[in-house]
Amino acid sequence: MKHDKLYSKLAKIYDVGLYLNGTKKAYDFFVKQLPFPESKRIKVLDAGAGTGQFTLAILRRFPNAKIVAFDLNENMIEELKITLKNKGLTKSVKTFIANASGPILHVGDEKFDLVVTCGVLEYVYPEDTIKNLADYLKPSGYFFNSPVKDNIFGKLLGTAFVFKPYSQERIIQAFTSCGFNLLKLLKIPIQYLPASLMKEGYLFRGNSSRL
Ligand SMILES: C[S@@+](CC[C@H](N)C(=O)[O-])C[C@H]1O[C@@H](n2cnc3c(N)ncnc32)[C@H](O)[C@@H]1O
Repeated sequence: MKHDKLYSKLAKIYDVGLYLNGTKKAYDFFVKQLPFPESKRIKVLDAGAGTGQFTLAILRRFPNAKIVAFDLNENMIEELKITLKNKGLTKSVKTFIANASGPILHVGDEKFDLVVTCGVLEYVYPEDTIKNLADYLKPSGYFFNSPVKDNIFGKLLGTAFVFKPYSQERIIQAFTSCGFNLLKLLKIPIQYLPASLMKEGYLFRGNSSRL
């Protein structure tokens, strides 16, 4: 896969990129909107976690969270493991290699309060992956997706990172067809430029057709 080779090459410098383009701060902004008390021991599944910037944002706000973070790319997960070790967070996050579109064997029958996909559904057929990941969600759980916007900036990013952004309608339709309702569409504040031009966040929750 072309994108897998690319992430293998970029893994070492990936976090610097997310810091410089405002994504790290944007993730803190998204996490602030999640409807859990800060002290809650939420269980989170971060699918396609990469170097773990969303996982780390979760732990900044929810220090008692227990996170399972996995990715297809070995080098990206290796970077996440190094960061967790350096920050003394290895007990809060379980990491491994897996495909978000297939059975996640390391998880077994564990269920989560929140499933996260940030910049991942762009690489897969969304309905199949959403359905697959939704199996790991508690009936009352939330699904947070942060895709790249379908605009000129997103398209340029997609050319560099080997994907095609989906339109808002396409994303909402994919989740709706899997039994989710959109609770919030989160626009990143302008001060987090250029991330605010390229990314957005969608918070979904299962409806009665999923239960
Ligand atoms: C744009 S990066 C985002 C990484 C991280 N979620 C973040 O927000 O920083 C996309 C990640 O998705 C991973 N990925 C792509 N397809 C995947 C799949 N089918 N299963 C798991 N991870 C996948 C890539 O290896 C890469 O690390």
